Amino acid sequence: TPGGTLYDRIGPEALAELVTRFYELVAQHPDLAPIFPTDLTETAEKQLAFLTGFLGGPPLYHERYGHPRLRARHLPHVITPKRGRAWLACMNAALRATPSIATADAQEFYAALTRVAAHMVNTPDAGQ
Ligand code: HEM
Repeated sequence: TPGGTLYDRIGPEALAELVTRFYELVAQHPDLAPIFPTDLTETAEKQLAFLTGFLGGPPLYHERYGHPRLRARHLPHVITPKRGRAWLACMNAALRATPSIATADAQEFYAALTRVAAHMVNTPDAGQ
């Protein structure tokens, strides 16, 4: 549907595809794989629930797991600027590999994620 929220335009199927692709890339990324669990099933379920609400769809994450407290939840993980860029690169590649998401919607989504990702960085890069 044109108009509406980003969630209305992208839809649940394309969003689920995107999240699946994203974690396939995360699992293969040398800077990211070490900080993620080997089994990404639950992580992907939580991310799909979170992004659904983030894009203006039903607040599934809040309903299932409570307030996301995203920055606090990321604090136990060492997230450097380099890892922030790696996370965004995986998301960008996953967006490009999901052609059912229109380019303008992908760009708007990516810009919003860039802002949240900057907030998750909690450790300087090594050697500074
Ligand atoms: C969970 C890394 C950015 C949303 C996690 C986990 C890691 C991680 C290691 C724990 C996985 C697990 O144990 O299941 C990163 C890194 C980022 C980043 C390196 C780079 C900046 C983001 C962003 C968002 C996000 C931008 C939202 C747009 C989530 C959610 C969870 C999660 C919803 C699950 C929280 C829960 O356990 O309930 N992330 N993350 N992350 N991340 Fe990130």
